[in-house]
Amino acid sequence: MPATQRIDALAGLIGRTVAVRGWVMTTRSSGKIAFVVLRDGTGYLQAVLSKKEVPAAAWGTVGALTQETSVEVTGTVRADSRAPGGGGVELQVTDLRILGASADFPITPKEHGTAFLFEHRHLWLRSRRQVAIARVRHEVIQAIRDFFYERGFVLVDTPILTGAIGEHAGTLFATDYFDLGKAYLAQTGQLYVEAAAAALGKVYCFGPTFRAEKSKTRRHLTEFWMVEPEVAWNDCNDNMTLQEEFVAYVVARCLERRKAELAELQRDTAPLARCVPPFPRISYTDVVETLKGLGATMEWGRDLGGDEETLLAKQYDRPVMVFNYPKAVKAFYMKENPADPRTVLNNDMLAPEGYGEIIGGSQREDDYDRLLARIKAEGLPLEAYGWYLDLRKYGTFVHSGFGLGVERTVAWICGIPHIREAIAFPRTLYKLWP
Ligand code: 4AD
Ligand code: MG
Repeated sequence: MPATQRIDALAGLIGRTVAVRGWVMTTRSSGKIAFVVLRDGTGYLQAVLSKKEVPAAAWGTVGALTQETSVEVTGTVRADSRAPGGGGVELQVTDLRILGASADFPITPKEHGTAFLFEHRHLWLRSRRQVAIARVRHEVIQAIRDFFYERGFVLVDTPILTGAIGEHAGTLFATDYFDLGKAYLAQTGQLYVEAAAAALGKVYCFGPTFRAEKSKTRRHLTEFWMVEPEVAWNDCNDNMTLQEEFVAYVVARCLERRKAELAELQRDTAPLARCVPPFPRISYTDVVETLKGLGATMEWGRDLGGDEETLLAKQYDRPVMVFNYPKAVKAFYMKENPADPRTVLNNDMLAPEGYGEIIGGSQREDDYDRLLARIKAEGLPLEAYGWYLDLRKYGTFVHSGFGLGVERTVAWICGIPHIREAIAFPRTLYKLWP
């Protein structure tokens, strides 16, 4: 019995006899010769069966090779640059065995509606496009980890069950927590990485975060993955520099290592290739004027909505950073801007091509009294923030950080219209299964 190989290894095994296990995508037969396209997750492979050359039992199974049947094929690897698998090889089959039948696979090569596809998400994941998206996501996450590792950041895992509100009181998932009252699913790990930054200098957390947002937009999930670096002694400008280097690194990695997947997704990579620092930086106040100039109805003090973000981002050929938003529309922990106390030392990064905000970040309020005043003004329960205030009591320090949403980033890099395809099993207002 020849050794079992994965499809992506076959290009290095030309002339050898191998076994491959995978799933049937399509078959085509002329009566004497049959072509079976297989996938195994690592690639796509055309297997060629000739009636004369395979055992009668193997030839007899050809008619039963319905979509998604799992099979084991044995054969000789042949170079063929035109083979539909794309790997430059095909398999001249010597034997074939069905491992698992598949009758009436629900997702056929014809068009299906989005609702139907999401009901069958567990099976839809096998399609070529979904496999390509999953591999880009994997690359994005690996690039994120490598970027911070290479720069000496320490990963600190933060809790998912939390006692304090991180962002907005209105978007919390709460659960009863024994005798201790309510626990909330983390909206952010930020408050905890701030504590860790005083211990380790440069840190990040990376995990799922939760927002009970009743938004039905293509940019919102109720569970999404966020990476949040936090750096002692970085101010708001250092923070923006870190963001542009970080995003440029992640995009460049995908362009370098996920060419095949981006091609599968028919992604025009030219806009991604322009993602090199410096990214433009404009103040919120200037943005309001710009938007008015472009005909938008926008007044100072209002947060940017999705439409405004898109309109603004269209003016630039790479991601743009908007800084110093009005204090009233941003979270309590952002540091007041000494030059204009109506605003805070924060910034958002907006992706091009209509993908909107991918990063939110800020310098943190490091003054004990001002932070206390903000917590009180927001009506947050003081007892839950005692530990957070301690960080301003014992050696307070200038520090900044940000959060990048993985699904929005993946959707943008892949060029897909909705972020729910950027995660294997999305959670939205309407989706809790599969
Ligand atoms: O702007 P946000 O709410 O910032 C924070 O949570 C800060 N604590 C981050 C920090 O400074 N450490 O969220 C950050 C990013 C957004 O820019 C967006 O990419 C993503 O998280 N995000 C969402 N992604 C999908 N669905 C949602 N409902 C999201 N909400 C935020
Ligand atoms: Mg934000």
